[in-house]
Amino acid sequence: MREKLEKIKLESTTELENVNTLQQLEELRIKYLGKKGELTQVLRGMGALSTEERPIVGQFANEIRDYINEKIEHTEYCLKRRELENRLRNEFIDVTMPSKKKELGNKHPITKVLDEVKEIFVGMGFSIVEGPEIEKVYYNFDALNHNKFHPARDMQDTFYITEDLLLRTQTSPVQVRTMEKMSPPIRIIAPGRVYRADEIDATHSPMFHQIEGLVIDKGITMANLKGTLDVFAKKLYGDNVKTKFRPHHFPFTEPSAEVDCSCVACSGAGCRVCKGSGWIEVLGAGMVHPNVLRNCGIDPEVYSGFAFGMGLDRIVMLKYDIDDLRLMFENDKRFLSQF
Ligand code: DAH
Repeated sequence: MREKLEKIKLESTTELENVNTLQQLEELRIKYLGKKGELTQVLRGMGALSTEERPIVGQFANEIRDYINEKIEHTEYCLKRRELENRLRNEFIDVTMPSKKKELGNKHPITKVLDEVKEIFVGMGFSIVEGPEIEKVYYNFDALNHNKFHPARDMQDTFYITEDLLLRTQTSPVQVRTMEKMSPPIRIIAPGRVYRADEIDATHSPMFHQIEGLVIDKGITMANLKGTLDVFAKKLYGDNVKTKFRPHHFPFTEPSAEVDCSCVACSGAGCRVCKGSGWIEVLGAGMVHPNVLRNCGIDPEVYSGFAFGMGLDRIVMLKYDIDDLRLMFENDKRFLSQF
């Protein structure tokens, strides 16, 4: 029995020295000290010993149990320590390392200029409204006094969804929607995307942006239109900018005009930007046609108003001297980060 105990001591020592995980350690504890463990078996067999032998072997067995227990505790301490050291090493953070630079985005030039335009008009008492990009043919054309044969209604020019639905070709339908909902006095601008079946090039895109304006009240005249647009141009491009009205035709205004600003690049002297003319066309405008007022349930004998519509993309290109419209939609960070 003594030899058996010596053997247990020897074997457990080598085995415990080779343990690598807490799991293995637990297995060894069960193997030697568990209910069916080797040492426990020996202690159980002590009944067969003589009265003289029993206390001696018993004492030896206890010594060995204490020895193994101690060894297990020590091994457990070492394993836990090793684990902690590993974690500390792996989860090490170098707080002196320079942090990753957070890239802060900036507004797209179109949004930037739109914000400016909004601010100018809000400052003049306008409110901002929006309309749907998928629009009824009625709002986009009929209510705006386009007759059935107007060329803009052609399939070649306009993206139809169904016979009655299309991607709006202009923000002007928002005029009609507004007049249907609100009663005069009305003073709104309506910015948004518009769509036309145009080939993409430096100055054309099938999607672009417009800002619509509408004022309806008693006694509104062309003078109010001129004054408003002149103030707008000066606020946007600077006090030296002049505006000029040229007669034009739009189905939904009468009289209608195209409005030019003196060239921002050369102050009117003539240059590459204005193609030598000294003027740049910025918008269409006019007095709201009596038919349109009537279509919206407003009595043209009582009320009058003006409307205008400008191409936002063009205004942005002029403001920042951008020579290709495509740059605005390519999402190239090298371009976008310049604004
Ligand atoms: N909707 C016109 C266009 O897309 C622009 C326009 C002209 C709007 C005259 C107006 C206006 O409100 O009165 O070409």
